[in-house]
Amino acid sequence: MGYLTIQNLRAPRRVAGIKMSGICIRTKTEADQAWCRDLLSDHWGSARVVSRGRLHHADTLPGLIVELQGEPAGLLTYRIEDAECEIVTLNSLLEQRGIATALLNAVTTEAVRNGCHRLWLITTNDNLPALRFYQKRGFTLAAVYPHAVQEARKRKPEIPELGWEDIPIRDEIEFEKILQPSGGA
Ligand SMILES: CC(C)(COP(=O)(O)OP(=O)(O)OC[C@H]1O[C@@H](n2cnc3c(N)ncnc32)[C@H](O)[C@@H]1OP(=O)(O)O)[C@@H](O)C(=O)NCCC(=O)NCCS
Repeated sequence: MGYLTIQNLRAPRRVAGIKMSGICIRTKTEADQAWCRDLLSDHWGSARVVSRGRLHHADTLPGLIVELQGEPAGLLTYRIEDAECEIVTLNSLLEQRGIATALLNAVTTEAVRNGCHRLWLITTNDNLPALRFYQKRGFTLAAVYPHAVQEARKRKPEIPELGWEDIPIRDEIEFEKILQPSGGA
């Protein structure tokens, strides 16, 4: 698959008021699998991700890769089921540069193109940067699943006990964004 500029994906060229230059987003291919697995292992302990009791091998899911000046700088993996799109992982390798926002814009476009009416994701109670990040981008709290991570650890024992700033990782938090149909207001 060729490269898609942000403009081609109909995401804004300016992200959160910051001019993006030298950035492009492309779809993940087979050739990216090893890089994706390494990135996911570095950040999440392995490429295995559990959300709502379901185990995903995120390195095998559809994904979007941001490249900045030709170097991979971020990965978003997702899956589409029943007209809903779940963001399974989102990682920025160069923070505070608009990388994650660009990926979020791109997956939103993909979800709408695929007829999805809802974009959703699971994060955990400790991940304060993620809680902040998604809420500032129009996601709302859909559900809180207290102590769900205890169950998730049965499927993925490598989930650590402590997360961001040593906050115990305990609850799953579901965020959602309702999507407008393609061509809609
Ligand atoms: C949370 C996370 C995805 C954010 O990624 P990011 O690439 O830093 O996000 P962005 O750069 O798009 O946005 C972050 C901030 O940087 C700002 N920013 C963007 N470009 C900038 C630039 N060139 N200069 C200064 N600030 C900039 C944005 O305005 C934004 O601020 P705001 O949230 O107050 O609006 C990232 O911290 C991460 O990968 N965390 C680890 C994995 C994780 O927790 N993932 C989510 C869980 S599902």
